[in-house]
Amino acid sequence: MKDARTPYDELLASAREREQEHIFAYWDRLSEQQKDALLQQIQQIDFDLLHELYQTIAANKKAADLTFEPVQPIPLPRAEAQKQEAQEMAAVGEQILREGKIGAILVAGGQGTRLGFDGPKGIFPIGPVSQKSLFQLHAEKLLAIRRRYETRVPWYIMTSESNHAATVNFFEDHHYFSLPKEDVFFFVQGMMPALNEQGKLIMDRPDHVFMSPDGHGGIFAALKNSGALEDMRNRGIEYLFYFQVDNVLVKICDPVFLGYHIHQQADMSAKVVSKRDPFEKVGVVGRINGKLGVIEYSDMSDDDKLARDEHGNLLYNAGSIAIHVLSRNFIEKICGNDINLPWHIAHKKVPYIDAQGQTIQPARPNGYKFERFIFDALNYAERAVVLEVDRAEEFSPVKNADGDDSPATARRDMTRLFASWLRAADFPLPENVDGMRLEISPLFALDRDEFLNKIEGKLRIPTAFYLE
Ligand code: UD1
Repeated sequence: MKDARTPYDELLASAREREQEHIFAYWDRLSEQQKDALLQQIQQIDFDLLHELYQTIAANKKAADLTFEPVQPIPLPRAEAQKQEAQEMAAVGEQILREGKIGAILVAGGQGTRLGFDGPKGIFPIGPVSQKSLFQLHAEKLLAIRRRYETRVPWYIMTSESNHAATVNFFEDHHYFSLPKEDVFFFVQGMMPALNEQGKLIMDRPDHVFMSPDGHGGIFAALKNSGALEDMRNRGIEYLFYFQVDNVLVKICDPVFLGYHIHQQADMSAKVVSKRDPFEKVGVVGRINGKLGVIEYSDMSDDDKLARDEHGNLLYNAGSIAIHVLSRNFIEKICGNDINLPWHIAHKKVPYIDAQGQTIQPARPNGYKFERFIFDALNYAERAVVLEVDRAEEFSPVKNADGDDSPATARRDMTRLFASWLRAADFPLPENVDGMRLEISPLFALDRDEFLNKIEGKLRIPTAFYLE
């Protein structure tokens, strides 16, 4: 006999089982269209998982029994032998780039709440002189890489429901910044509901359950479900260079980093910088219960943040700049083996509806959001490279509207970097360039050496010079 239960009956039963039937409270007042949309949304909800997560919160389980130890990254090359090694690694990375086995992954699904900018963060104008957007800056770096190595580098861009259309439209409007459209692959990450302090799902409209992006750790499921992983396989991509939308100094597809990863047959690798100060808001790469991982700044105690080694340096000093290389095989393993990255819980302000169905923006945190983090995959890597890089050359993120890690500091840091290139070409500049705005397009030069080669002689001041 055919089951006469409708999808509505079934979902209501599942919701009831987990005491979440309030999500149907406004059912009778909804239009047919709203009903359909709500059912579709509820279909995606994993009631058992949410129940389990709430149990964890209610039990107030702390990571108390976690041990955390520092790691020694491959240091910045200072001695001749180290510089030589870095050059050899660059040659390895360059070879694989030329062979077309590298793809780039950008995560841009975040909501950029701290920056207070309406729209995808990637469209934020950042060029100190050109005012070009973060997306354009990254796209031009990729274009320059393609030209330099006469290769194709497919670009996989992760968006979320709330910024997908705006992101794709921006690329369309700008003709993909001269990248071939077929080499840019957008994919949308998953969403996750939130729970209130009583463990209930939160409705933010009578016909809608509040959901937010499931964290950049949602990338594995999203790569698989969107077909991006298959696309990588079809194109013969072996390694993925992973970066965040907010870092203006990111050296996309850095051959040295790729080279180390490939040479050491690593699964997943990470770049770090020496922390600016104990309280800098970066995760720290270390060993968690003996395995490589990142401990988030929000999860680290003040004592640990302030701890020093016998030389007086910060003990936990390997600041993660959220740049990774992942082998495609490793991504396949994570996707295929049902490896479930842990959920991180954050107490946040979540909009909700009152008894009249009006949406309220709370003044205080009132709910729990759940996110997965990509760096938890490091835990499963059998081999990994941790490489220290120079902050001045590789890390300046746009996170806040002002103060540290803001558009102003990002433009300042770009200006400082370009000033160092110009000085290397004997261009007379004051020692302190803060307050000036200098910019060199990636399409002119991707790094200091390329700049010096191109500019040779052109900027040199003559040995004698006279103005009257
Ligand atoms: C992040 C890292 C931190 C690192 C720092 C370096 C986390 C949890 N922490 O901090 O360890 O030291 O960057 O700058 O990531 N994103 C998505 N989908 C999401 C959430 C985020 O695509 O669901 C993307 C964002 O668009 C952004 C990136 O992930 O590109 C980072 O997210 P953000 O929340 O800004 O992390 P931070 O706290 O800055």
